[in-house]
Amino acid sequence: MPSDSRAWKSLLMRALPTRIKSRLCGQRLSTRSAPGDSGSRDLKAGLGMLDEDDRDATLRYLLYEVSELRSLIRHLLAESPRYAEFIRSTSSSFDFQWGHIKDGVALRSDPEFLKRCRGLVASYTGLPEHWFNGKRVLDAGSGNGRWSATFCELGAQVTAFDISEHGVAETQRECAGHPAKIFRHSVLEPIPTEETYDLVWSYGVLHHTGDTYRGFQNLVPKVAPRGHLFLMLYGEPRLENMIEFKELNLYQALRWQLRGLDNEKKAHSLQSILQPHLVHGFFDAVSPPINDCYDRSEVVGWLRTAGFEEIRETLDNRNIHIVARKR
Ligand SMILES: C[S@@+](CC[C@H](N)C(=O)[O-])C[C@H]1O[C@@H](n2cnc3c(N)ncnc32)[C@H](O)[C@@H]1O
Repeated sequence: MPSDSRAWKSLLMRALPTRIKSRLCGQRLSTRSAPGDSGSRDLKAGLGMLDEDDRDATLRYLLYEVSELRSLIRHLLAESPRYAEFIRSTSSSFDFQWGHIKDGVALRSDPEFLKRCRGLVASYTGLPEHWFNGKRVLDAGSGNGRWSATFCELGAQVTAFDISEHGVAETQRECAGHPAKIFRHSVLEPIPTEETYDLVWSYGVLHHTGDTYRGFQNLVPKVAPRGHLFLMLYGEPRLENMIEFKELNLYQALRWQLRGLDNEKKAHSLQSILQPHLVHGFFDAVSPPINDCYDRSEVVGWLRTAGFEEIRETLDNRNIHIVARKR
């Protein structure tokens, strides 16, 4: 038995969540639920958090607040004329990258990537490799064409665009010999093609545009009825995974070191500290000024609102690899 009022209070505080939980749920809370019932599983997991210790609860509250505020600020920034400079210099960083740092890990000059790329598109989309043959695929923000070329090799009819002139030229080079349509375009404008696609794929693009939601909205009408939409978007770090916080802290520290330098000087600085095959990846991660990270729930919310179902993440990773099917 507790002997003083402070001990009573502490006991009550610890007891309170359980009582709240049983009142909310009408029964002992189980975080188990039927397979595929992820909405209700997540809700129950949320209620289960009432058991977390005080420091975790405080940290989680602050992360929720930061996430919510960043999400609101993004909507305001997208309309702000001053933000146009951030958007412009993000595009310029990518154009420099595709023109001057062409090789690196996970690009088509990497033999390991070449071996794995067909399997990767299959596992990220949840579609078998043979599915792609003859399908219409739109690669929105094709970069230097590593995925467009993969889709071509799988027999798809590929349409691809990117805002970067060098990116478009590299995509054309990678897809040479295949009947792909490749052009320069911004995903923040409606996509100027007549057709719709069996798969719209956008890997690591929308979070660099300065208006992810507008880009998403421009992609939605391009997905054919019963077609698939795959997005890779930077995700916020997950609390249970400290390495994700450390990774992002490293990127942020490097971004601050490189502030105010032009693309060439940023590249030189990275070349002076990194092994050559790592320069491309780090430049990609730290040079562009716009790198929005999303909470998965925001993306799921957009997909639901836009009429998608069968929404699922296909990789357990900080970055959100998400696929959904249009009704
Ligand atoms: C990280 S790269 C990813 C490229 C490619 N999807 C890949 O996975 O290799 C981001 C790409 O988004 C492109 N991008 C940025 N803003 C864009 C916009 N508004 N419209 C189209 N592409 C854009 C950049 O030029 C760059 O090629």
